[in-house]
Amino acid sequence: MKKALILAGFLALGALAFAASGEQVYQTYCMSCHQANGKGITGAFPPLAGEVPEYLGMGEEGRAFLIDVVLFGLQGKLTVGGAVFNGMMPGLGGSLKDEDVAAVLNYVAQAWGNDKDLPKGFKPLTKDEVAKERTKKLTPQQVYEIWKKLQEKAKD
Ligand code: HEC
Repeated sequence: MKKALILAGFLALGALAFAASGEQVYQTYCMSCHQANGKGITGAFPPLAGEVPEYLGMGEEGRAFLIDVVLFGLQGKLTVGGAVFNGMMPGLGGSLKDEDVAAVLNYVAQAWGNDKDLPKGFKPLTKDEVAKERTKKLTPQQVYEIWKKLQEKAKD
């Protein structure tokens, strides 16, 4: 009995050590393009600061879009904060586990003052939501079609 408890404690510690924090995932997989301050680079990499809460305020479709961008990438002409971006983000689903995708998006949802713009009652993204999106196997161009639909909805 005691042995089992010690083993369980050991396993819990191990899991903690291996689960990367959202901030660590950001630094490793996103920062080179979107920058440490989340502001991106005008004309090349869109800002995440001041932008991500908008998608989270669009309900399930907005949440799914953010997950899709990280898993499958994004390619198309975007207007973000008045600036035009026509680049390509590679999908990172091959490198990131479901829990890492949820963790990094929950980090960018709250970093750089984004926490102040989150919708009321915001619930952190879960690894189950990521697992569900992963089954869709989208292309970066298909993710762009979702972006366009969200923009049209936001205009109504
Ligand atoms: C190699 C550079 C690169 C990396 C690495 C990268 N991105 Fe991107 N990201 C881009 C580009 C370029 C776009 C815009 C694509 C376009 O113009 O269609 C973008 C778009 C986005 C968008 C949509 C922004 C909007 O307002 O519509 C989100 C969200 C995003 N990235 C999050 C992330 C996260 C989170 C990571 C790390 C897990 C990451 N990106 C890693 C280059 C990158």
